[in-house]
Amino acid sequence: MEKIELKPNIFWVGGIDWDIRNFHGYSTNRGTTYNAYLIIDEKITLIDTVKPKFKGEMLSRIKEIINPKKIEYIVSNHVEMDHSGSLTEMTELCPNATIITSTRGEKGLKKHYKKNLNLKVVESGDTLNIGKRNLTFVHIPMVHWPDSMVTYIKEDKLLLSNDSFGQHIASSERFDNEVEWGILKEEAAKYYANIVMPYGSQVEKALSTIENLDIKMIAPSHGIIWKNNINNIIKEYKKWSKHESENRALIIYDTMWGSTEKIAYSLREGINETGLNVSLRNLKTSHFSDIMSEIMTSKLILFGSPTLNNGLLPTMGGFLSYMKGLRPRNKIGFVFGSYGWGGQAVGEIEKIINDLSWEIPVKSVNINYIPDENDLKEIKNIGNTLGNYLKK
Ligand code: FEO
Repeated sequence: MEKIELKPNIFWVGGIDWDIRNFHGYSTNRGTTYNAYLIIDEKITLIDTVKPKFKGEMLSRIKEIINPKKIEYIVSNHVEMDHSGSLTEMTELCPNATIITSTRGEKGLKKHYKKNLNLKVVESGDTLNIGKRNLTFVHIPMVHWPDSMVTYIKEDKLLLSNDSFGQHIASSERFDNEVEWGILKEEAAKYYANIVMPYGSQVEKALSTIENLDIKMIAPSHGIIWKNNINNIIKEYKKWSKHESENRALIIYDTMWGSTEKIAYSLREGINETGLNVSLRNLKTSHFSDIMSEIMTSKLILFGSPTLNNGLLPTMGGFLSYMKGLRPRNKIGFVFGSYGWGGQAVGEIEKIINDLSWEIPVKSVNINYIPDENDLKEIKNIGNTLGNYLKK
């Protein structure tokens, strides 16, 4: 196996998951990687492990470099099993290894693995000397779990950032100069929108800590390693963490007999006439996680559902439940729908976006049965009103 060296004597020893297409509900169309890093110093140190299925791949990569028995430290930056899943088996192969973890990490690892692990707990800011290098640990709770931390190596100006700055991309390329920025940004945004978005204030805090560090490389635990686009990705993270979005609209809908779809298209036309860009996403054909990326980057979000059995269409119900958990903020909302009798779907959507404290400047539209030409004209005008409101 080819050795991949990030910095002198620091190697990528992860696993490439070419096949995964669903990562706990998130569509991973490009697959992913589980990145682990091996540091050869006086005390040989492994940073994170991989999902259990990829333990063999990680071990082969380690064995190309050293005998795993020589590993003295394993840093567990995060308990989630895509990073700690091979930890207990590694401790059997590395009998002298001490596992470095955060306070919450200690609790999480004990609960997950129910084994007597040789753990050393580090506080945020603690430093561990491994020879020529000093590893500094910075806790970044909730990016992605309460236990999450990053490891910084001052001597190499290298940040091992775990989930933060990750992207789900499986590739033989390891560095950002080998992959187009457009692809990296798209996947990093999707990752942020579907995993990190609820924790914007914690991300802001983590970014302010990181800003004080001299960083020339960011090596996350998923996807590509950043070296040329560090400023660009930090700039995007700052925007995302503040819930900043673009002046564009996104219409999310599903339809039963086509009435709600007609409304969606008239709204699109009306908004478009004001010069704004609009995306239309039918929940039957677009994946929740792809729509979340667009919610993150769009300011005006419109939701449409017909009423079914006194409530929402299941696709809309499922989507709103997923979106609610990710807590997008600072949005302008609008709701529309159609019904035969009852008409409760519109109210149910309003309730959810009210709970998220979105602004709802224009009254919802709820059409009985099928919109006629006049209805569609009025709806297009509502699109105009919303577009002009957004441009103000
Ligand atoms: Fe990649 Fe939160 O685990």
